[in-house]
Amino acid sequence: MAGSLIGGLIADGWNPASIRVSDTDARQLERLSQRFPVTTTTDNNRAVEGADVVVLAVKPQVMKDAVQSLAASISKQQPLVISIAAGITEPTLRQWLGEETAIVRSMPNTPAMVQSGATGMYANPYVKDDQRSVAESILRAVGIVIWVDDEAMMDAVTALSGSGPAYIFLFIEALQAAGLELGLCRETAYLLALQTAFGAAKMALESEEDATMLRQRVTSPGGTTERAIKILLEGGFGELVSKAVHTAAERSRELAKEFGDNQ
Ligand SMILES: NC(=O)c1ccc[n+]([C@@H]2O[C@H](COP(=O)([O-])OP(=O)(O)OC[C@H]3O[C@@H](n4cnc5c(N)ncnc54)[C@H](OP(=O)(O)O)[C@@H]3O)[C@@H](O)[C@H]2O)c1
Repeated sequence: MAGSLIGGLIADGWNPASIRVSDTDARQLERLSQRFPVTTTTDNNRAVEGADVVVLAVKPQVMKDAVQSLAASISKQQPLVISIAAGITEPTLRQWLGEETAIVRSMPNTPAMVQSGATGMYANPYVKDDQRSVAESILRAVGIVIWVDDEAMMDAVTALSGSGPAYIFLFIEALQAAGLELGLCRETAYLLALQTAFGAAKMALESEEDATMLRQRVTSPGGTTERAIKILLEGGFGELVSKAVHTAAERSRELAKEFGDNQ
């Protein structure tokens, strides 16, 4: 995820010389510096030294260990801290880093790897307006950004767009499987399913009309689409998606609690 962010920032015109990357894994740094002319170090404190913005991009399970050695320099320098870790709440981060730390908690998703991510962001009250703009421009380098005012909404963002690419992949798999059953070859069915998902999303993004209207427009009375949509709706498609997303939000709340409790 950090590699995607760095790639997006450089493609967006940020100066690579202003980016310092730290990772405990020297081979990971080696691979990264072959791709981008950024400064690398295995010493997290050196990466943070003098930084205006610190992006925390380690797995949630190792976040506490990773940030505790940074607490002193972060309290002293007061940079903006952006966390992309799932499930680590802003109060938990403040407890680890210092009570008055300016923190933006964000939830990107994997299409960030191709600069088409969707990121939800929450800023705590210590984040100044200019820091909010910087946080937004960093995450916007890998896709769209939406802000939420209430941190609890990050569970909804996680359940919808964080986990969302997997739901879409599942739908693409199901379309491909159905195409195979109808006699198409594997590659053709896959390509048709993929391009259809991409084309539909692109069309909806570029349209003034919402998805419901667009769906109704392509559903001619008595036609093939109408028959298929009827089967999906009668089979409880909407309820099933709703149940799945609610369950993901519930799991997000549970994980936040687990990470918070394990301090
Ligand atoms: N991937 C996603 O779809 C996605 C979406 C939204 C948010 N996120 C969040 O993004 C964060 C990063 O996820 P990822 O998939 O990019 O993880 P990742 O591939 O494991 O990258 C994290 C890197 O940090 C290194 N690291 C571990 N401990 C460290 C420490 N103490 N100091 C410095 N570096 C350390 C890891 O090295 P080792 O490999 O040696 O441990 C690894 O190279 C996670 O918190 C995740 O919740 C991910």
